[in-house]
Amino acid sequence: MPQFTRTLVTSALPYANGPVHLGHLAGVYLPADIYVRYKRLKGENIIHIGGSDEHGVPITITAEKEGISPRDVVDRYHQMNLDAFSKCGISFDYYGRTTSAVHHNTAQEFFLEIEGKGIFRQKNEKLFFDRKANRFLSDRYVTGTCPICNSPEANGDQCEQCGTHLSPLELINPKSKLSDATPELRDTMHWYFPLGRFQEQLEAYVHTHEEDWRSNVVNYTNTWLKQGLNDRAITRDLSWGITVPLESVEAFGKVLYVWFDAVLGYISFTREWAAQRGERDLWKSYWQDPQCRLVHFIGKDNVVFHTLMFPAILMAWNQGRTSELYNLADNVPASEFMNFEGRKFSKSRNYAVYLGEFLEKFPADTLRYSIAMNYPENKDTDFSWQDFQNRTNGELADTLGNFIKRSVDFTNARFDGVVPCNSTTEEWNALGIEWQDTLEQLDRAYEEFHFREATSLGMDIARAANRFLTVSEPWKMIKVDHDAAARTMAISLNLCHALSIALFPVIPETCNRIYAMLGFDGHIEDRIVHGKSLFTEILQPALKEGHKIRKNAEILFTKIEEGDIAPELAKIAALLAEAEKREAGVVQSRMEFKPAISFDDFLKVDLRVAKVLSAEPVKKAAKLLKLQLQVGSVTKQVLAGIAKHYTPEEMIGKNVVIVANLAERSIRDEVSEGMILAVEGDDGKLFVIEPSGDKINGKLIQ
Ligand code: MF3
Ligand code: ZN
Repeated sequence: MPQFTRTLVTSALPYANGPVHLGHLAGVYLPADIYVRYKRLKGENIIHIGGSDEHGVPITITAEKEGISPRDVVDRYHQMNLDAFSKCGISFDYYGRTTSAVHHNTAQEFFLEIEGKGIFRQKNEKLFFDRKANRFLSDRYVTGTCPICNSPEANGDQCEQCGTHLSPLELINPKSKLSDATPELRDTMHWYFPLGRFQEQLEAYVHTHEEDWRSNVVNYTNTWLKQGLNDRAITRDLSWGITVPLESVEAFGKVLYVWFDAVLGYISFTREWAAQRGERDLWKSYWQDPQCRLVHFIGKDNVVFHTLMFPAILMAWNQGRTSELYNLADNVPASEFMNFEGRKFSKSRNYAVYLGEFLEKFPADTLRYSIAMNYPENKDTDFSWQDFQNRTNGELADTLGNFIKRSVDFTNARFDGVVPCNSTTEEWNALGIEWQDTLEQLDRAYEEFHFREATSLGMDIARAANRFLTVSEPWKMIKVDHDAAARTMAISLNLCHALSIALFPVIPETCNRIYAMLGFDGHIEDRIVHGKSLFTEILQPALKEGHKIRKNAEILFTKIEEGDIAPELAKIAALLAEAEKREAGVVQSRMEFKPAISFDDFLKVDLRVAKVLSAEPVKKAAKLLKLQLQVGSVTKQVLAGIAKHYTPEEMIGKNVVIVANLAERSIRDEVSEGMILAVEGDDGKLFVIEPSGDKINGKLIQ
């Protein structure tokens, strides 16, 4: 294990094509911020880099939908998200934009370095071109009929109806989404990154982290490694993006693929951060000094880009070099998803609570606390308004807030607002908290990214403290034993102080207010000294006899009334009703029959009983099974989109119904000489039609 002297934390760059929602906050930005704040409290050298991902097709599609330019889209959402993060207390050291000049230069520099080493492959391919729009069409810009399920609205990358991953070339009757025109095929050349060339290096890299990375991250990455890594196109025919920095004809009109550019944003923004501080080369000590630890906070959907793709890009840069070598990530704490009221957040269905909107109604720390307690560390979790209300009222207001206020108020009322005596750690342990152990546990929980555990440990301390104060009854005690009441208050005030440090990473604004009530000037952040941990300060009672606290206690948390969340619950009910209606609409439209056909037309369809002789998966087509069918005296090969529903073994020996005179088609370099019949259940599961009867193989069905 190398000795690290610095940490560089990155948070996934959100696409600047919409506002960030609570799901993003829970998975990436809050955990990153908690970690960074915790490390800062420990006096460690750490920076937090983030920013907007401003290229890519999602942005051009939003722009087209709204009839504005991509530039307008990214300007709007960059600012919106930056504001929301700052309101939420997400303490980035730098929040950049991938449209910046520094970033364009960095990405182009990487491209040229790797191109110069001859690592990229160039491949000619045929791509759809829209003559009217005068543009090549990337996958998402082509629509047509699905070759597997015949849905008329399949996208060029995937059919939503049956889920099959497609290439635009496989669509029947392809159309351009830009102009509705039938696109034509043109030759185009693209640069590919040969991930496979780094397979061994990547395996070795991942292997060294199998113990310390989360199991979801390791498993997901290993699944990819096991399948074998393929070449990945890293250029696109688009006008919005970072241009391929070559003069050649082939490079004309091409930009870098958004994923190639976005991950490099972490580097660009660290450069910008350093330049802004007037220390131009400082970024190198975060990226190129092996003593710096690199940690990427991301959601689970971004894992392979950070455990394979980005490391491979850095390996390609490092290859053959003796200086300016980049570090690879030391950890990639990817989160699972936090759902909202039992359903997935969905931007497209507008089923979300946006961060900025939320913070207009409720204080940041109430949200930070609830979300930390629902941190989706190793399984999906759920955020609900009810849970938010319960935690705010029961835990933050009644437990933490109440304890602090009673401690400060009573000290002011009866002890002149000063800490009446010294106290000892033994007295703390008498509360039923093993102080040393608890702090060590807390420390480890933060350090190892167990943010839910850390937060609940903090709340456990508050609960024990609150109980202690209630049970000790200093307001009664003071009449009979003044010293005992004094000791109670000294312990309580010290616990207030300890809580303000222990919970600072999670609820920083509140902790600063506690800190001020305890009579300190300035913020907790101001006390941070490099190399000195504020956590060690709370191993012992820190407030000594005579320490003066502030006159007035404030109410830290306002309770959330039913009336505050009623409109939010109504909003969800409306959204869910809308979704239900949409789903019901689908069922109804399924009952609408296709246009009538003549009896003769029907007779044209040659339906036969066939038997499955063999079945096997199809390479690169996870949804397909390749079936060999016995149809009377002939055998036919059929590709069926049923691999998610039947194993090859289950299919072998089955009687099925085949459309035997369907024109041949090729899918993924394989021919399909027919189609088997299946019916789709409500939940999308497919059931193959299995005719039964004696000696029916090859017989016509009519
Ligand atoms: N914009 C991407 C998303 O929202 C994430 C990019 S992460 C980065 O899924 F590594 F590329 F920055
Ligand atoms: Zn389909």
